[in-house]
Amino acid sequence: MNAIRDLRVLWHLAATPIRGRTHAERLESFYAGQADDYDGFRQRLLHGRQELVEQLPHAPGQVWLEMGGGTGANLEFMADRIPAKQAVYLVDLTPSLLAVAERRIARHGWTNVHPVAADACTYQPPEPVDVAVFSYSLTMIPDWHAALLNAHAALKPGGLLAVVDFHVAHKYPSPGHRRQGWLGRWFWRVWFDRDNVWLSPDHLPFLERLFATEFLAERRGKVPYLPCRAPYYLYIGRKPEN
Ligand SMILES: C[S@@+](CC[C@H](N)C(=O)[O-])C[C@H]1O[C@@H](n2cnc3c(N)ncnc32)[C@H](O)[C@@H]1O
Repeated sequence: MNAIRDLRVLWHLAATPIRGRTHAERLESFYAGQADDYDGFRQRLLHGRQELVEQLPHAPGQVWLEMGGGTGANLEFMADRIPAKQAVYLVDLTPSLLAVAERRIARHGWTNVHPVAADACTYQPPEPVDVAVFSYSLTMIPDWHAALLNAHAALKPGGLLAVVDFHVAHKYPSPGHRRQGWLGRWFWRVWFDRDNVWLSPDHLPFLERLFATEFLAERRGKVPYLPCRAPYYLYIGRKPEN
């Protein structure tokens, strides 16, 4: 059963053409056929998500924002803390993934979790947020500068921005960052580009410019059915108070 689900996802990842005139249409074209199998496969591909959610401080009354939240899979990692939050906004452009999130929210009976069909580059929640999360979404957002600036604007002063995602390093990364060989820097960009996932050496430097870094880890994680491991990072930064 799992093998059949994997085959279905792999078919979409490797062989199905992505169509559409706009970014939103291309996302729906990519995800529509795999939305119901998304969680199982991505659990083995998108490393560090649970660790990121658990690293973040959880407190009653918090307002939480996930940009590109997809099926809401990350909500499961904090399921017992959600009822005490004031609100959780789960923003995504892809209707088929948001439909999975809506079913999840209904199953848990979370009345304070709000799925929002919107663009992370422009959506502003109705109240300032304590925590904003990008979990493997930044690499799928063409105008990622706009998305980060928009999340920065949504955060309260002193609020936290958290990112987990694939990345490639600069050829000569700044001190404190890991170097990557030329083959990996080239291979992972080409590999993910097929699925409109754009790995960039500029995400981390831009995050570090916008926020005061509180936590950074650069790692590698297994990619199902490949013999090599893809580089990813976890980042938590604080919006300056003024
Ligand atoms: C790899 S999925 C990650 C989903 C989820 N955060 C997770 O960790 O499972 C990337 C998500 O980003 C969403 N996305 C891409 N561009 C977006 C945009 N401009 N605005 C909102 N969501 C976007 C996609 O629809 C997709 O759900």
